[in-house]
Amino acid sequence: MQRRARSDRVPRAAHAHFSLPSQMRPQEPVSAKLLDGLFEPVIHVDASAIVFRIGDLSDGEARLVERAVESRQREFSTGRVLARRLLAQMNVTDFELLRDEDRVPLWPAGIVGSISHTGNLCAVAVAAETVCSGIGVDVEPDEPVGTGIERRVCTPPEVAWLDRGPAAERGHRCRMIFSVKEAVYKAFYPQLREFWGFQDVSVKIDLPAQCFTARPPASSGAGQVEGRLIRRAGWIISGVAIR
Ligand SMILES: CC(C)(COP(=O)(O)OP(=O)(O)OC[C@H]1O[C@@H](n2cnc3c(N)ncnc32)[C@H](O)[C@@H]1OP(=O)(O)O)[C@@H](O)C(=O)NCCC(=O)NCCS
Repeated sequence: MQRRARSDRVPRAAHAHFSLPSQMRPQEPVSAKLLDGLFEPVIHVDASAIVFRIGDLSDGEARLVERAVESRQREFSTGRVLARRLLAQMNVTDFELLRDEDRVPLWPAGIVGSISHTGNLCAVAVAAETVCSGIGVDVEPDEPVGTGIERRVCTPPEVAWLDRGPAAERGHRCRMIFSVKEAVYKAFYPQLREFWGFQDVSVKIDLPAQCFTARPPASSGAGQVEGRLIRRAGWIISGVAIR
């Protein structure tokens, strides 16, 4: 896989099909409990509605989004505040969570983590590097994807899995595949720095067991990984930790 320029690396057009009108977004109060069972307890997690603002950031963090629209400032700020709380649980304080040129958060030495936000929800997971070498979290509203997304996101075996499920679930299950692929990408990217498209990663979801396996592209050298997929309170939540 070649590394690509950021402009063609982020499929913003595809992501636009996943956004929902605000009245359709799950609005229930959220806390870390929403993420119960996503990871083993050595991985610290927190979740919140998107309630924080640029004034809650350190100066360095605030500079990263000072020109962004307010909704972006709020999702970024909420991710940073949750990350700060989790780092404090690991006895890391007074730390600015800046980012590199690829948007990857620059966690403190010896710590790995992942941030996701969508609609009115933000989720963060953090762990010591001795526990895992990478973490990926993704949150999505549990709503069907729009027309045309399935073809972009799913490989033929994944489409076959959709075919076997109830018709009313099809769009929801496609969003689950999307979510898992995003989580897996975020877990590996900080180490590998490779772009993967949706067709490069194969996913198998076991819904009753609330888990998945994902196979990264063979050329990456990364092995198959297992993660958890939780459907709760109107959200699809995927989590993977790389051992
Ligand atoms: C990073 C990406 C996967 C998800 O970003 P998103 O759509 O904004 O969704 P999320 O809210 O779940 O995640 C954003 C957070 O992920 C983190 N992030 C951004 N780029 C990242 C990367 N390359 N690797 C790891 N984490 C990344 C950041 O913390 C960001 O939040 P912040 O900017 O507020 O700090 C997506 O934007 C992207 O780059 N996609 C291209 C590759 C892809 O989707 N391939 C298909 C899957 S294999």
